[in-house]
Amino acid sequence: MSAGLSDETLRQIVSGSAAFNRRVDVTGALLVDGQRFFQYIEGPPDGLEAVRRRIHDSRSHAAVLPVLDMAISTRAVPYWAMTHIETGQIVVSGLVNARWDEFGHSVPGMDQLVGLLRPHFPRIGTAGARRATAGCT
Ligand SMILES: Cc1cc2nc3c(=O)[nH]c(=O)nc-3n(C[C@H](O)[C@H](O)[C@H](O)COP(=O)(O)O)c2cc1C
Repeated sequence: MSAGLSDETLRQIVSGSAAFNRRVDVTGALLVDGQRFFQYIEGPPDGLEAVRRRIHDSRSHAAVLPVLDMAISTRAVPYWAMTHIETGQIVVSGLVNARWDEFGHSVPGMDQLVGLLRPHFPRIGTAGARRATAGCT
């Protein structure tokens, strides 16, 4: 992250990213610790490729370190075309240094990331939402 990057510029990056990602059916999240970005994106292969190309072709990135590229069956963050979450440097370092290969039945880095994002997921089941119940006597 360049020194002096303003909140306003960051907001513009995130809203521009969300607009493009929405068009190509990509969802994801951007964690920001004031020094580095940690980004997770998911979607169809051609959509991801389009986003990767946009990031690769941009002059805004000095160094990109990929940590994960794998097939998934369901989206981990279907809620956001792109959102950004302010976090601490220990959190981003923890993610960068996590295991991103399969370990047993899970990918530890993914579990860590989803655990961090879960408190930010939109609330489901608030007033007005539809409900269903079932019972058996
Ligand atoms: C940390 C970071 C993450 C980004 N993520 C995305 C993204 O998910 N989707 C997207 O379309 N653009 C994303 N962008 C924006 C592009 O990389 C790029 O800035 C944009 O295409 C404008 O090009 P320019 O920087 O050369 O002016 C991101 C930019 C930054 C700095």
